[in-house]
Amino acid sequence: MKTRIAPSILSADFARLADEVATVAEADWLHVDVMDGLFVPNISIGIPVVASLRKSTSMFLDVHLMIDRPQRYVREFCRAGADLVVFHVEAAQPQDIFEAISIVKSEGKRVGLSVKPKTPASVLAPYLGMLDLVLVMTVEPGFGGQSFMADMLPKISELRSVLDKVNPGCELEVDGGIDPNTAPLVKKAGANVLVAGSAVFGKSDRAAAIRAIRNS
Ligand code: DX5
Ligand code: ZN
Repeated sequence: MKTRIAPSILSADFARLADEVATVAEADWLHVDVMDGLFVPNISIGIPVVASLRKSTSMFLDVHLMIDRPQRYVREFCRAGADLVVFHVEAAQPQDIFEAISIVKSEGKRVGLSVKPKTPASVLAPYLGMLDLVLVMTVEPGFGGQSFMADMLPKISELRSVLDKVNPGCELEVDGGIDPNTAPLVKKAGANVLVAGSAVFGKSDRAAAIRAIRNS
């Protein structure tokens, strides 16, 4: 499956967001972290920022919702211009997860589900056949700049092999602590979408930073 690099704007300068995004144009996707201060202990950005990004870039917008009860907001994120909406399996009851998946699909957008580090891959089983992407968190969600959790590698391999049986076209994304040192490990385990915040926006030469992860 094609390897995609997705810089996370959480580590960008939000006051200069359009300029910051322009510096990562050679990446594959743009990763947008939405935090509500409830599901995670931090607050970031929301629907109006996705709408503004949509007007200022043609990049594929990978919107990662770290919010409680995402079924309340997924339609609005789709209409704001998200291309892919990813939310957390821990954030809603099963019937609401099915509802949120079907809302995103009915809006014509791609849909993904994410698991936090302590959540076993098996929790995703009921949904795998309906998804375009699975996101394995390789740090506790909430903040950029944390260290990669190498103990998530078996979960990545396990999910890739289950997906190969039940939904081979489903992409497998990792998020947290990805840099040129950890990227080869997650690729080997079967991840193909690599989110990187500080390893891209923390560098002055963003194009070189993206290339370093891609060629690692
Ligand atoms: C963390 C966010 C990540 C974050 C990753 O909760 O979901 O997308 O920006 O940052 P780095 O790459 O610095 O770990
Ligand atoms: Zn993220």
